[in-house]
Amino acid sequence: MSTASDEMIARAAAALRRCRNLCVLTGAGVSAESGVPTFRGPDGFWQGRRAEDLATPEGFRRDPRGVWAFYNWRRSVLKDVKPNAAHEAIAQLEGRFPAFLLVTQNVDNLHRLAGSRRMVEIHGNIWRVRCTACAYREDAFGRVLADEPRCPGCGAWLRPDVVWFGEMLPVEALRRAEEAAQACEVMLVAGTSGVVYPAAGLVHVARAHGATVIEVNIERTELSAFADITLIGKAGEVLPALVRAMDAGE
Ligand code: OAD
Repeated sequence: MSTASDEMIARAAAALRRCRNLCVLTGAGVSAESGVPTFRGPDGFWQGRRAEDLATPEGFRRDPRGVWAFYNWRRSVLKDVKPNAAHEAIAQLEGRFPAFLLVTQNVDNLHRLAGSRRMVEIHGNIWRVRCTACAYREDAFGRVLADEPRCPGCGAWLRPDVVWFGEMLPVEALRRAEEAAQACEVMLVAGTSGVVYPAAGLVHVARAHGATVIEVNIERTELSAFADITLIGKAGEVLPALVRAMDAGE
């Protein structure tokens, strides 16, 4: 598959220069170049393990220790990981648009570490924990927790503050994401396979409201048929090139 040409990047940059309201939607692919495995594909997080066992409320009820072992392993992988050029390019874009929202499906915190602030984490954040029984929440950034982490308030199990399969997305984050998808002039979609809803549905919402959809991915996806421009390549290369092309055209 051919990589994004300069001409296609220039077209995408021109759309961004005209735009005053940008919504960026990201998935695991933007963290791949930081060394974080994506979910699907040969080295994916779910490989050899069943998502139903590790990322569902039923799986947690059945085997909380096993689920915590998985999340503590992911925390230990993420502890030493740094944002890459893709996260940095997205953080740079934030300051250039009067209206801007980054909607990320990633729970790894790397966008925040790169400087993104106008953002919503629609699948939660792996460093936060919350109580399964009371309203207790805690930001346990950078820490691998005990095998059986318990709520200091009521003693019930703590759980990662991430969205599991079959669970509702955080209401306020999803509301802001939907509003941004409706209002944006361009939606920039990077590093997502586009198979998990309602996140992928935001692209359809944006399109239905007249937005130009620009996709960045190493391969074509479920969303490519709905994108006006698909830029094939690594997010850590294409996104900085896009920012440079925006600057060059000013
Ligand atoms: P996936 O693993 O489904 O998809 C990752 C995408 O990134 C694929 O389309 C890859 O082609 C692409 N990709 C890989 N490396 C890349 C790179 N260097 N540059 C650009 N693209 C690259 O991950 P998501 O789409 O994020 O949900 O998955 C969505 C949700 O499914 C996740 O948030 C998670 C999972 O179940 C929950 O945990 C609720």
